[in-house]
Amino acid sequence: MQASITNTATRYGWATIVLHWLIGIIFIGQFMLGFVMVRTPSQRTAFELIQLHKSLGFLLLGLIILRIAWRLGNAAPPLPPSVGALERRSAPLAHLALYAFQVALPLSGWALVSVSTLEIPSMPFNLFVMPNLPLAESDAAESFWTSAHWYLAYAGAALVALHVAAALRHHFLLRDGVLTRMITPSSAGE
Ligand code: HEM
Repeated sequence: MQASITNTATRYGWATIVLHWLIGIIFIGQFMLGFVMVRTPSQRTAFELIQLHKSLGFLLLGLIILRIAWRLGNAAPPLPPSVGALERRSAPLAHLALYAFQVALPLSGWALVSVSTLEIPSMPFNLFVMPNLPLAESDAAESFWTSAHWYLAYAGAALVALHVAAALRHHFLLRDGVLTRMITPSSAGE
């Protein structure tokens, strides 16, 4: 049967599935890259890694905007009836928080390079110069946004870990198909 691009009443379509895993993989890679680059002793290597981190961050921001737009026009299928009342209420809140972090985190990174007095331009994948956000440069603003970026990155990673744990619980303990429906797309007519 032909895979459907859109979500159906019971399943996710392939566009949602591709965006979900693409963003998830880049997010985890981006977190590890951020962690490593600020601890790299060689200034030259650190510089190259930070440029890559900025490029991937802008890519993630674009993908997450696309994902939110797609989600607004394409309702998610409801949870299976076996899911308890507490999780039925908490899951949408956790998902909303995940979306909020995915927007706030790259924006805080963008803010931090925008206010930096070093004035190093951001060139996503060497393709074009990304304009800075209209924020005043200062060392105090840079240290504020660096802290904000740090807190958002670690809180976001904790939320992702919770999300992964919840998905694994559904798959291995509850065996209710909540994880598999984010792997196999809906079919036309389903
Ligand atoms: C979802 C996207 C992002 C994630 C998960 C992420 C994650 C991180 C992490 C984990 C660190 C290291 C924190 C530490 O251990 O000290 C970091 C640092 C940094 N990030 Fe991001 N980041 C993202 C997006 C961005 C964007 C879009 C930019 C800029 C355009 C950016 C610029 C930076 C910079 C310049 C630093 C170094 C800060 C310092 O000097 O300590 N990040 N990021």
